[in-house]
Amino acid sequence: MKFEIQDKVAIVTGGASGIGHCIVEALIERGIKGVVIADINEELGRKVTKELNNKCGSTKIVFHKTDVSKKEDFERVFESAIKNFKHIDILFNNAGVFNEINWEKCLNTNLKGVINGSLLAVEKYFKNHKIGNEAVIINTCSVAGLMALPGMPIYCASKAAIIKLTECFGQAHYYNLSKTKVIAICPGKTETPMLDIGNLVRPDQQSLGESTVECFDGQSPDFLANEAMSLVQQAPTGSIWIIEEAKPAYRYISADKDSFKKNTL
Ligand SMILES: NC(=O)c1ccc[n+]([C@@H]2O[C@H](COP(=O)([O-])OP(=O)(O)OC[C@H]3O[C@@H](n4cnc5c(N)ncnc54)[C@H](O)[C@@H]3O)[C@@H](O)[C@H]2O)c1
Repeated sequence: MKFEIQDKVAIVTGGASGIGHCIVEALIERGIKGVVIADINEELGRKVTKELNNKCGSTKIVFHKTDVSKKEDFERVFESAIKNFKHIDILFNNAGVFNEINWEKCLNTNLKGVINGSLLAVEKYFKNHKIGNEAVIINTCSVAGLMALPGMPIYCASKAAIIKLTECFGQAHYYNLSKTKVIAICPGKTETPMLDIGNLVRPDQQSLGESTVECFDGQSPDFLANEAMSLVQQAPTGSIWIIEEAKPAYRYISADKDSFKKNTL
């Protein structure tokens, strides 16, 4: 059954910049009732919120300064959605950072942030405050979570972890708890400020990190956001989707453990 975006309410973490910003625009184009942008960058968040509201002549976009790695912050985002729009139906766990030096920050944002949002959604807010039969969580992972890129081991690990988290929360047990569909997108290289990895890698990783970014064909965040909308509407729970090189999304399926049994020494 198709999930309708029109008249729903969404939270978009990391919605002030790059992919998240384009996701907010794509939601507006599809008739969303309200969006809470939850981002740590207050100045940019307030600026884009004002611009988006001016553009659509409404007050349907609300900004909430948030550090997704803090559960109390995240809880206040859900409360803000309900206070402003009465219900909450879609969570884009999109905020992320690349940082191989401050690796705790990378894990706290990319993994702990997604866990915070997912637990609050399935155990409390989507269970009690969605308007329709179903709610949706969509996690922004990365193709880096499916590969072993030596220039970015911590980032790869953080994204690989969310792929498993998505597959687990996509099981029937969790769907039945709150009728929440949990899916993930794995973008390839996408033209956003994140690509400037500059001094965020260790000295020995510098050329590895740069060549990794250079060797892939990029895509625009608008293209990615539009593909993500089709997945919100149609992808089954627990499914993982690669979107790279501006090509239509295709599904990643984890190999069954038994298929490795012949790979002995
Ligand atoms: N750009 C790419 O090539 C690419 C590829 C694959 C996956 N991704 C993923 O896409 C997502 C969006 O990244 P982007 O490329 O748009 O980068 P971006 O830097 O343009 O946007 C990231 C946003 O997240 C916000 N943010 C950072 N830490 C936060 C925190 N603790 N709490 C709340 N907000 C926080 C930032 O302020 C920023 O607005 C990330 O999860 C990233 O890992 C990006």
